[in-house]
Amino acid sequence: MAKTIIEPFRIKSVEPIRWTTRAEREQLLKAAHYNLFLLPASDVLIDLLTDSGTGAMSTYQWAAIMEGDESYAGSKSFDRFRKSIQDIFGFAHVIPTHQGRAAERILFGVMCKKGDVVPNNTHFDTTRANVEFVGAEALDLVIPEGKQPSLSHPFKGNMDMKALEDLTNRVARERIPLVMLTVTNNSGGGQPVSMENVREVSAVCKRHKIPLYFDACRFAENAYFIKLREKGYESKTPKQIAQEMFSYGDGCTMSAKKDGMANIGGILCTNNDMLAQQE
Ligand SMILES: Cc1ncc(COP(=O)(O)O)c(C=O)c1O
Repeated sequence: MAKTIIEPFRIKSVEPIRWTTRAEREQLLKAAHYNLFLLPASDVLIDLLTDSGTGAMSTYQWAAIMEGDESYAGSKSFDRFRKSIQDIFGFAHVIPTHQGRAAERILFGVMCKKGDVVPNNTHFDTTRANVEFVGAEALDLVIPEGKQPSLSHPFKGNMDMKALEDLTNRVARERIPLVMLTVTNNSGGGQPVSMENVREVSAVCKRHKIPLYFDACRFAENAYFIKLREKGYESKTPKQIAQEMFSYGDGCTMSAKKDGMANIGGILCTNNDMLAQQE
């Protein structure tokens, strides 16, 4: 691909945003009790709360909306959607949701109960909320390096394997309904997880017969980091790397508002037939 110093595309739609003064912003933040979730979006000039939905869709994506098959059942648009998801993720069942948080709500609602523990490298805020909503504990087990911003480490999103092993020894299997890996580890600054770490987590899960699910929001960037930083992956494509990564898991949730390059949307995938029926 040719290297350009400019972005090789034209952005053709314009959405006005309201200009605010520093004094107004201070007032608005105070009124929201410094809780960013209580701020009206229309008062936000630069959104630093999330990377969600900040991308622009391509002309082809917008045009595809007009060509979409909205049939009540058997829609060919859904077949196309499922085929392209399965090509990368490889999971048996694909359930479209309106956002990532909706996929989480369904997954944890079906798989978790009060008193359960869900380990993750770091739960994203919506993920934590959905785990806690069903009365389970959301446990963050990222490696210590991942908590030190000044430290250099190629995969600061890795799961702490000792902490995961300790948990599986300390807590009964019945209380750990799934293990989750967030790629990239967004609440920890979008730091990547190595393939070696994915393999190790998967091996522990298999040994204890615990399903492994990915929070796959930025899977493509994670794959690219693996290509750049992990030995043995230099000549693989990000797609091949993503395919290998997902082959170690049993399913995923994903917000399509990030690497999915959509304005809105999400997916829930699983290999578990029984679960897919309940979901
Ligand atoms: C890692 C992660 N998980 C889940 C979500 C929730 O996705 P959504 O905003 O589509 O509900 C986000 C982003 O917002 C995220 O970054």
